[in-house]
This record gives sequence, C-alpha cells and structure tokens, in this order.
Amino acid sequence: MKILVTYYSETGNTKKIAEAIHEIALQNHDSILKNFKELSVDELENYDLVFLGSACHHANLAPPVLRFVEKIPVSPKLKLAGFVTHSTYPPEGSDRHAELFEQWASKCSKTYKTLQNEKNIDYKGYFRCMGVPSKPIEGFIHAQIITEDEEWAEYIAEVVKHPDETDIENAKKFAQEILDKC
Ligand SMILES: Cc1cc2nc3c(=O)[nH]c(=O)nc-3n(C[C@H](O)[C@H](O)[C@H](O)COP(=O)(O)O)c2cc1C
Repeated sequence: MKILVTYYSETGNTKKIAEAIHEIALQNHDSILKNFKELSVDELENYDLVFLGSACHHANLAPPVLRFVEKIPVSPKLKLAGFVTHSTYPPEGSDRHAELFEQWASKCSKTYKTLQNEKNIDYKGYFRCMGVPSKPIEGFIHAQIITEDEEWAEYIAEVVKHPDETDIENAKKFAQEILDKC
C-alpha cells in the first residue's frame, strides 16, 4: 500500500506518534511521513491509507486540520485512521478524569466519526494519548481547569512524561492493527 502519515504538531508530541506509526508502516509498505503544513488536499488521492494526526486544540482537532478535512471530497478512495495527542487526562482513571476528558478532548474522535459519515470515508480507527502542554497552555490549565494544589501537583507530574515509551509502543500496536485491517 501507499501510505501517508501526516501530523499537525506545534511542539513535537504528535510528531513523535507519527514517527512511530511511520516506522511500522515502512516495514511492509511504501510510507511517507509528512508535516501537515506541507500537505494539500489534492495529494490525498495518491495514497491508499492516510494516518491523519493532530494536536488537540480547543477541545477538538487543531483549526487548520478542521479546515483541511472540510475539503476532502466525498467518497475518496483512501482509507483513513486518526491520531491525537491531548494534554487532558485520558478518561479511564477516575470520574474526574473522565469529566475533564469529556470536556476538553473527546470531540477529536467524534470529529473523525462525523467525517466518516459525512464524506463516506472508509475510516479504520483512532489512537490518542497524552502530550505535555506548552508553557502557555500549562498556565491556562493551572489557572482555569486544575486549580487545586494537590490535584495540580499530581497532574503536572504525570503529563510532563508524555508521550512516554508506553504511548509509543501503543501507537505502534495501533498502526499494526490498522494495517492488518486494510
Ligand atoms: C492552542 C492550544 C490549545 C490546546 N487545547 C487543548 C484542549 O482543549 N484540550 C487538551 O487536552 N489539550 C489542549 N492543548 C494541549 C495539546 O493538545 C497537547 O499539549 C498536545 O500534545 C500538543 O501536541 P504537539 O506537541 O504535537 O503540538 C492545547 C494546546 C494548544 C497549543
């Protein structure tokens, strides 16, 4: 297959996940790794499978990615898989984590699902993990979202580790699962 792994990444977290996916895709396929900022919608028709990644911004895919996906034609021949890094906790930990995730990161996967339905895209699956926030975003989270000292200390100690080795391994497993499905 001809595969494109593309990523919108401002501080490198989503790029790390893209590199892990690309490494797996390259093992048995013709895979290209490309910064989303250098990609045009017309190029998509050159690929059988596209892994489209984005940092989570404002609780959804980053605005340039949202604008880009609007332009994908209906019923393209490509298959699509999505991946995202977000600084919110994953939902599995506790009710509080689930609540934060729901408010600040859950829309990303829903956007891919909507795209699948609206554009009739053969959508194969989704991966996400935490990614350390930039300093301004860290400041926003501390001031507006996780304000209590104890909760903040626990949160910041965790988020700075991501993406970690387990995230990278999970991204590689995800890539393999998607390839197997195709
Ligand atoms: C402008 C902006 C808005 C963000 N909004 C969110 C958000 O709503 N929810 C969230 O979980 N993370 C948010 N983040 C944090 C990023 O999603 C997270 O740090 C991500 O791993 C960054 O990926 P990158 O290094 O590939 O750019 C935001 C980051 C920026 C720069």
